[in-house]
Amino acid sequence: MSLVFPRPNTNTVHGKKDKRLMAEVNASPLKHFVTAKKKINGIFEQLGAYIKESASFLEDTHKNEELDPVTTEEQVQEVRGYLTKVASIGEVLARRQMKVVFFGRTSNGKSSVINAMLCDKVLPSGIGHTTNCFLRVEGTDGNEAFLLTEGSEERKSIKTVNHLAHALHQDEDLDAGSLVCVMWPKAKCALLRDDLVLVDSPGIDVTTELDSWIDKFCLDADVFVLVANSESTLMQTEKSFFHKVNERLSSPNIFILNNRWDASASEPEYMDEVHRQHMDRCTNFLVDELGVVDRAQASDRIFFVSAKEVLQARVQKAQGMPEAGGALAEGFQARMFEFQNFERRFEECISQSAVKTKFEQHTVRAKQISEALRCIMDSVHIAAQEQRIYCLETKEDRQDRLEFIDNQLDLLTMDCKAKIKKITEEVEKQVSNAFAEEIRKLHVLVDDFHMDFHPSLVVLKVYKNELHRHIEEGLGKNMSERCSTSITSALMAFLCALALEGLKPLLPIPVREQVDKLVPRQCFSLSYDLACDKLCSDFQEDISFHFSLGWTMLVNRFLGPKNTRRRAVYLYSFIYIQVPRPMALTPVSTSMPPFPQSAMTQEELMVSMVTGLASLTSRTSMGVLVVGGVIWKAVGWRLIALSVGLYGLLYIYERLTWTTKAKERTFKRQFVDYATEKLQLIVSYTGSNCSHQVQQELAGVFAQLCQQVDVTRQNLEDEITDMNRKIELLNSLQSKAKLLRIKLKNKLIKRAWTKMMVVSRLLLGRLA
Ligand code: GTP
Ligand code: MG
Repeated sequence: MSLVFPRPNTNTVHGKKDKRLMAEVNASPLKHFVTAKKKINGIFEQLGAYIKESASFLEDTHKNEELDPVTTEEQVQEVRGYLTKVASIGEVLARRQMKVVFFGRTSNGKSSVINAMLCDKVLPSGIGHTTNCFLRVEGTDGNEAFLLTEGSEERKSIKTVNHLAHALHQDEDLDAGSLVCVMWPKAKCALLRDDLVLVDSPGIDVTTELDSWIDKFCLDADVFVLVANSESTLMQTEKSFFHKVNERLSSPNIFILNNRWDASASEPEYMDEVHRQHMDRCTNFLVDELGVVDRAQASDRIFFVSAKEVLQARVQKAQGMPEAGGALAEGFQARMFEFQNFERRFEECISQSAVKTKFEQHTVRAKQISEALRCIMDSVHIAAQEQRIYCLETKEDRQDRLEFIDNQLDLLTMDCKAKIKKITEEVEKQVSNAFAEEIRKLHVLVDDFHMDFHPSLVVLKVYKNELHRHIEEGLGKNMSERCSTSITSALMAFLCALALEGLKPLLPIPVREQVDKLVPRQCFSLSYDLACDKLCSDFQEDISFHFSLGWTMLVNRFLGPKNTRRRAVYLYSFIYIQVPRPMALTPVSTSMPPFPQSAMTQEELMVSMVTGLASLTSRTSMGVLVVGGVIWKAVGWRLIALSVGLYGLLYIYERLTWTTKAKERTFKRQFVDYATEKLQLIVSYTGSNCSHQVQQELAGVFAQLCQQVDVTRQNLEDEITDMNRKIELLNSLQSKAKLLRIKLKNKLIKRAWTKMMVVSRLLLGRLA
């Protein structure tokens, strides 16, 4: 990724701000670096906070087991990695300083130049080989200056600087490549307030360890100042050193100070020529040999100064004396101005260069990180969006299915009710008809019953019980044969249609098999619980002998047994003769038309009177007397005698044929009559009982099938609830990802960088 530096435009909205910034920078161009550093640090702090937020968001999202993964473990790890990276970049940035290193041959005045810039004799200087190690001057917030040596945190007095770094006064055996830090109070020097570090070096002509010097002190330098001696010329030692530096660093910022220019005052006639000579040689060196600067801008990198004079003047000024006082050579002011000019250009150059070299890379990295994070958030957003769409579609599908099931179930329930009603009606009709038919054929069933018959009460009781069981079983079997097959097949047809066409399509495929298992449970059979024993418990047989031409029988024959009692009462009212009891002394059937209560009371009264009268006279003799008297007069005695004889013979015959077999037959006939009457009473009950059973069975199976649908419905509802929860979760996840994505839009970084570059370009423009 490459950063595009925008063209400065003071007419833009940011014009005012840029002007303010420029005013600050004009006061000290080094401020540009300080401001930029603050901004970059701010950006990284903010970026760190965003990354932290993003990392915890991704971790939470990744841990969330309710959702399908919208993040990967790699993404979580990647973001965690960025967090560490940004934190360490932040630390590095906080330590960033602008660094200028001064090189040159011994006694060219390197230490004097630094002292002049610091406005104080901080570093040891003097004739001959003075500086014996690298001296790094940086600002400290305290008021006390102190020294720090490599590998020690002990603060040493500034007074020991000569003992440490002066070649002549050195107490400690310090190597030329070692470093002593001079911590100089920022309050004493404006330069040091703005994160500037000045590095003094031993003369490059006194060492052979130039390569290690470059490695140790030059790689992070923003500006190199070659302090040359204007009393001589650029030497090969100096040139070759900078060639080495140029090989290791791309386009180093190099300034050449032709120091000791005050010496030119002693030979004013050659001053211009010497100036030109130095300028040409230096320009050639920078432009042609090193190629670090354009020819047009080379003059801004070459200065003719006198460090000694500047230092002297500034010290005097600091002491409250006139700066131009003392033994200063001709042209001091011009050289002073030249030095100030150098300082200005140097400051502009170093701050602009340091911003670029020290922050650009990190700004690009910040942009890359935020871009990568944005991509991750994008992918989370997209994954969440896809999952949300899936959830919405699933929810919609389940809602549709639920609605469909509800509607279908309503329709099906109505349809089933109607069908069940129809089937049960048919069953009722069928069973009633079949039962009526069976009742008509009851005599066959009774005739089929074979058991030893005896008129004794005990045997009769057992006989009756067995007969009841026989009829119960027989009727049940016959009814089953008649009805069960057709009813069962009707049921099966209904249930199959219900399950296959009605309910099965409403169920999910795996559940459909369970429905198949439910349907063939049709081993259903109707139960015809007739309860014959209870129904016929009141049956009272009459197997005593009755002469067929007896009074009772005749009355019965001509008037019918049912209304015997009533008719007898009427007859009694005429002839005062006892009325015999009917065939079977069974209670009055409920199907008989009931007598009115008053009539019944009167009848009972009359019956008791007849019974009373009969107890006084013989029944037969009374009848014979009355009838005989009447006939005697009409036909004569012979015919009467013949009739009586025949009558007697018939009586004897009947009496003799009244065997146990005959009694059983009579019993059975009486029972058939009785049971027929009773069973007819429960025809409709049996029909409705069977239809009820069918209805219960159908309703049961339907309910069971509906239960499956209910389970399906519940599952669908659960799924919908689950989808709703997921959608809600995904919504918040999406909006969070979106928010982080917006936050991570590197507008902030871009804006800050743009602003810094605007100022840099303004500085550069001024240099040009
Ligand atoms: P080393 O530390 O030995 O490498 O020397 P250096 O380059 O640091 O030189 P230093 O600053 O010690 O100066 C050497 C001598 O030159 C000192 O005596 C200074 O006073 C003197 N000197 C420095 N700058 C000037 C100058 O501009 N004009 C004159 N006349 N003398 C100077
Ligand atoms: Mg020195």
